[in-house]
Amino acid sequence: MVKIFSGIQPSGTLTLGNYLGAMKQFVELQDNNECYFCIVDQHAITVPQDPKELRKNIRSLAALYIAVGIDPVKSTLFIQSEVPAHAQLGWMMQCVSYIGELERMTQFKDKSAGKESVSAGLLTYPPLMVADILLYGTDIVPVGEDQKQHLELTRDLAERFNKKYKEIFTIPEISIPKVGARIMSLQEPTKKMSKSDANTKAFVSMLDSEKQIEKKIKSAVTDSDGIVKYDPVNKPGVSNLLTIYSSCSGQSIGALEDQYAGKGYGEFKADVAAAVVETLKPIQEKYFDLIESAKLDDYLNLGAEKANAVATKMLKKAENAMGLGRKRR
Ligand code: TYM
Repeated sequence: MVKIFSGIQPSGTLTLGNYLGAMKQFVELQDNNECYFCIVDQHAITVPQDPKELRKNIRSLAALYIAVGIDPVKSTLFIQSEVPAHAQLGWMMQCVSYIGELERMTQFKDKSAGKESVSAGLLTYPPLMVADILLYGTDIVPVGEDQKQHLELTRDLAERFNKKYKEIFTIPEISIPKVGARIMSLQEPTKKMSKSDANTKAFVSMLDSEKQIEKKIKSAVTDSDGIVKYDPVNKPGVSNLLTIYSSCSGQSIGALEDQYAGKGYGEFKADVAAAVVETLKPIQEKYFDLIESAKLDDYLNLGAEKANAVATKMLKKAENAMGLGRKRR
């Protein structure tokens, strides 16, 4: 069976970008493949986190994964820090990577820009992500476009390890959705929509109320043309709303352009908001049912058990290949 792995950081309430770029694909891939979905809490601590908030966000993300449609029995849903092999192989991957290639990662450059102090973990974040993926013999990694460079590094490091030590790692492929791979900020549509944006009007949170969603979409930055047309260079705001609408409704961008020909942005924005509400409402209902339920812990225990069993085997293979410790079978 094809193996799928992906992870999301529990560093705040997820956005519509996280859903359309990543989670929606997870659900589509779940049926016919062996899937691993991870709450990457060790990645989250590469920037400062409040411990209480982090715990809350971990639980919230677990509930969201299930609420979007991940079946925690069929797929393996787990918390990264509960599977120690991630940090262990992560260290080994740090030793296989070069400082220069890590410093070239655009996410590192963006997140460290202008900061007085930057944790060493922010620089060595990608080798941990590499370990996440390689531990499960992953064939395909469904992610948004912003993770492309990290995936290229994953392939490079896997090949480097295989060549230098032993052919043990599968070289994974990236899967990026055709529509929705990069959902942009509603306020600055040339910037990625991000949950860490200081301006909360810039993103739709997956848990926003109907009213909040309507307000945010209504105040989304567009242009003064009044023409609903997909042109990301000249009309980034309208193009972003078309992408969101298409991804939420399943209608093609071309069909939407035809539907709104000659109509103004007012009607268009109201319909985009309605499509977003319709997409998120059933997810939110499931989420609020789950968040207080003890079942959530049972699912996470099961996930940790399943993930540990697979990851430990691969870790041992990697340790044997590198000559760490004593030979084990
Ligand atoms: P994170 O937590 O920033 O985002 C989780 C997923 O959401 C996608 N995404 C978006 N897609 C479209 N438009 C957007 N505006 C948008 N914002 C976020 C991301 O591409 C991602 O797929 N490094 C990863 C987490 C990670 C991981 C892994 C992913 C750790 N280990 C192993 C895959 C495999 C990250 O920070 O994602």
